Amino acid sequence: MGRRNSSPGNLTHLKVPFMRTLFWMSLLLMMCLYPSYCRPNIWPNDNLPELEIAFKDLGKLMMEVGLMLAHHCDRYVMRQGVGSYDGDSLEQTIARSRCHKGRLLYYFPRQFSKQTDFDSVSSWCGWHTDHGSLTGLTCGLFTKNSMEVPCPDSAAGLYIRTRDNQVVKVVFDEDQLAYQIGETTEILSRGYLCATPHCVQAPSSENASNVDRSTFALFMQPDWNEKLKFPSEIPYHQELIPPNGTLTFGEYSERLVDKYYQTTT
Ligand SMILES: [Fe+2]
Repeated sequence: MGRRNSSPGNLTHLKVPFMRTLFWMSLLLMMCLYPSYCRPNIWPNDNLPELEIAFKDLGKLMMEVGLMLAHHCDRYVMRQGVGSYDGDSLEQTIARSRCHKGRLLYYFPRQFSKQTDFDSVSSWCGWHTDHGSLTGLTCGLFTKNSMEVPCPDSAAGLYIRTRDNQVVKVVFDEDQLAYQIGETTEILSRGYLCATPHCVQAPSSENASNVDRSTFALFMQPDWNEKLKFPSEIPYHQELIPPNGTLTFGEYSERLVDKYYQTTT
């Protein structure tokens, strides 16, 4: 049990408060610089206190598995004989990032959707690629009036488009995880890894009324401050990136948000 030494020549007692202040100041700066991505979490602790712990546990597991996958992605790129990325490897980039996003995704029952073509493969979520590095996914959970139900339509669920342009339904169980490659990984690997085009089909059967879908997605991304050196041949969003340019991932993300939502910077 020692007394804190607060003699004028010893500033150790100031170190912890100083570091804490520095942390909060840097967080506030990030929230100003990258407002679309740096926001506090909102937990429904009054109504569902167990959610925060379960959410973080699952996110941590998906992160650990995603890092192992990133390791093998890097080995694949290296084996192509083109050396590594311009910057650090995918695994290193993800490992040091503070920018990963876990989100609970919710797909409304069809009667609340503006979509009218429920036979379309993209009736619940249109075709797109994620813009980050890797996206981890749990399988879809279908519920009706807040009770879990089996999927009422075997055609409903997640679809991807393969490199040879085949549309494939993704099937995996509740004790399995799936990962999709994002645009940033395709860009930085110069196309040796391809972003995964994907969409979600809603159930269209008669008993699909009031059936919704939920899933957990972990968007694994470079850090906001990570400088990304974009190669000259960029398959995505060329108008946002200067030729052979360098942007932080935060800058790149904000430009994408502006593009998608047509706001002004
Ligand atoms: Fe997506």
